Amino acid sequence: MTKRRIGILTGGGDCPGLNAVIRGVTKTARNTYGIDVLGFHDGFEGLIESRFTALTYESVSGILTQGGTILGASNRANPFEHIVIENGERTVRDVSDQTMALYRDLELEALITVGGDGTMTIAGMLAEKGANVIGIPKTIDKDLVETDTTFGFDSARQVATEAIDRLHTTAQSHHRVMIVEVMGRNVGWLALESGLAGGGDVVLIPELPYELDEIVRVARQRSRFGKRFSIVVVAEGARPKGGRQVVDRIVADSPEPVRLGGISHQIARQIEEATDIECRVAQLGHLQRGGTPSSADRILATRLAVKSMELVAEGTFNHMVATKGEEIVAVPIERVMGRQKFVPRDSPLIEAALSIGASLGVDL
Ligand code: F6P
Repeated sequence: MTKRRIGILTGGGDCPGLNAVIRGVTKTARNTYGIDVLGFHDGFEGLIESRFTALTYESVSGILTQGGTILGASNRANPFEHIVIENGERTVRDVSDQTMALYRDLELEALITVGGDGTMTIAGMLAEKGANVIGIPKTIDKDLVETDTTFGFDSARQVATEAIDRLHTTAQSHHRVMIVEVMGRNVGWLALESGLAGGGDVVLIPELPYELDEIVRVARQRSRFGKRFSIVVVAEGARPKGGRQVVDRIVADSPEPVRLGGISHQIARQIEEATDIECRVAQLGHLQRGGTPSSADRILATRLAVKSMELVAEGTFNHMVATKGEEIVAVPIERVMGRQKFVPRDSPLIEAALSIGASLGVDL
């Protein structure tokens, strides 16, 4: 009898819980179904360059609590747009046929792709070329469609909330406006939820372009009523009405080259120009992606991993495992490709923020 074998890779940026997934997939594959697992290094790069290791029970034992990914990740690699340097020139090549040849040579029954929207899009394209893929949704941004949540988000939200808590005491002592910038790319889930959990006075998200006057109004009003400090939680993707997002850098060889960051400094300068209130900035950056996963993320990552193996065992491919309420379900991967989940205007989170008197930087 031929040995059954699957592959797994962790694509895109890392986040807490990736190792819990790798462990969950490997243990379930081997224990429950007697399937071997190959782990590709550095996301799709390992698949392009044929770099992989056999994952055994021993190699995944003890990694549940570790942040990052033992396989490495890459948010640049893409078999359909592979960057090569030829004669000193940067050239983009489609190496997906070569990738599919490796997939077939290794006799993989399926490829588990753990990642965000970029990873799901590439996985869907490989499925169109004949690969059997199963996606597992991860991202601290929670911007994947067709799933209530993604693992990594809860851990990042906890880090951001703790940071806001700490910043409260120093803002209060010095009677300052503290602007806390959180990640999230083009969506505001992380800012909105950590802002709610941390009691932010103003929360700015990309979905609701803000007005500086409104932020200034809140800071002044709080001072008048004896609260001589304010906490502004701003998503890195937020922008003023009629204005632009602040770009930190362009990563030229990345499929999504724009890296956002720095809006907090712009807001701090503008508040200081408009008032006599002193401002300080805390840009949380990659702190939100590092460290050990929360218990909720460990459980979610493990359940998603187990479900992905159930799909492999029953031969249901080209789906992403997803959360729907308490359930773990499977959704066709093509429904996820190339889409992002934004905070809707009628989100209960927005309603809750407004009800408790937080400002969203705009008169709603
Ligand atoms: O998608 C996850 C994320 O952390 C975003 O919130 C952020 O904009 C981006 O990745 C940062 O990417 P990099 O690790 O390349 O700086």
